[in-house]
Amino acid sequence: MGKVGITETVCRDAHQSLIATRMTTEEMLPALPLMDKAGYHALEVWGGATFDACLRFLNEDPWDRLRKIRAAAPNSKLQMLFRGQNVLGYRHYADDVVEYFVQKSIANGIDIIRIFDALNDVRNLQTAINATKKEKGHVQAAISYTISPVHNTDFFIKLAKEFENSGADSICIKDMAGLLTPYAAFDLISKMKKSVKIPLELHTHYTSGVASMTYLKAIEAGVDVVDCAISPMALGTSQPPTEPLVATLQGTEYDTGMDLDILTQIAEYFKPLREKYLASGLLNTKVLGVDINTLKYQVPGGMLSNLVSQLKQQGKEDKLDEVLQEVPRVREDLGYPPLVTPTSQIVGTQAVLNVLMGERYKMVTKETKGICKGEYGKTPVPIKEDFRKKIIGNEKAITCRPADLLKPELSKLKKEAAEWIEQDEDVLSYALFDQVAVKFFEQRRAAKYKIDKDMVNMEEQTHPI
Ligand code: CO
Repeated sequence: MGKVGITETVCRDAHQSLIATRMTTEEMLPALPLMDKAGYHALEVWGGATFDACLRFLNEDPWDRLRKIRAAAPNSKLQMLFRGQNVLGYRHYADDVVEYFVQKSIANGIDIIRIFDALNDVRNLQTAINATKKEKGHVQAAISYTISPVHNTDFFIKLAKEFENSGADSICIKDMAGLLTPYAAFDLISKMKKSVKIPLELHTHYTSGVASMTYLKAIEAGVDVVDCAISPMALGTSQPPTEPLVATLQGTEYDTGMDLDILTQIAEYFKPLREKYLASGLLNTKVLGVDINTLKYQVPGGMLSNLVSQLKQQGKEDKLDEVLQEVPRVREDLGYPPLVTPTSQIVGTQAVLNVLMGERYKMVTKETKGICKGEYGKTPVPIKEDFRKKIIGNEKAITCRPADLLKPELSKLKKEAAEWIEQDEDVLSYALFDQVAVKFFEQRRAAKYKIDKDMVNMEEQTHPI
């Protein structure tokens, strides 16, 4: 093992960021034995949007994918991305669902669970953290990185300590928008390194074009692990490429100890797949360039394109500048949430409404109200009382952990999904993506039925009357 570790994201974030999470298990499997020998710190292969994409678009069982990956890379640490109390879905789930999901993820092969929350509210991580520890998994608590007047180095260090105290085995700075610039990274990492005892990992995206430089400065500042993607699936909205960083660090005190020959073979495997994605249009050259607007406006690239398309639909593209100036004001009103799903959509939509209506908060979305009511958790700084009153009137906001208001739901879900369940894990697929999961279960059953029928037909052929 080298001094600096690399986590390979090709089977999760890289294809989630470049080709809308459409890489199939079949496309991944041939590369895994090579990845297993290359000397990675870990392979990020599951969680995030991959679970949803398996069921919704690929007609694949995500649990089966995990088991196949586990078998194909027996010596590697497998990592998944977990959205705190949202698990891999889009709402808060009761604790029993969160706990059961963690248990089954580890039972099927996951070693490291990277857990984050859009608001960095540690209470939304705690159930998943405790469950991971109970199953003897590695807890990586991830800080959603953002830039705002309150998000300075001290703020993040305080957060990292809070995450460390909550039971994390390592901390990840998760820069989902590629906002972290090289010297800011040096400052943040070197100070955080002095304040927390557990290992630090850095995750960023190449969107704004600075990511490899950011990694180099972070490494000089003492970061333990960085996330990269093998070159054919790197750059653009994906991660920095693995091989150039390994080559850069070779022979230095930061040497990764990784085998460049094996990495080259892995890259050779993915090159034709990249060509295939380009030819089919799944991979668009637009996402492969440098988007400096991300740094200029300090909003994620995906959010910027959403704003443009929302304005286009209304024929108000000329209002983009006004909307971009409104975004930081809405963020301030809502207590400076980091801009990541779902908060990026909530802030963006409200900013568009505020500009198009000609009056701020004349129209308020259900989600903006939800943030003011505390339904998503605690915002980085408290929302001002007069603003809250303006948005939700005399309705009372909750101050407890949102999931404290949820009753256990697993046994109810088991009853609802009973007719489809072929393995324990199916109830979790159903819990997260109900109708999408049911459609998958139906197709799975139909495929099985078809095979049975074919076999019967064959028997008829072999034993003619
Ligand atoms: Co990412």
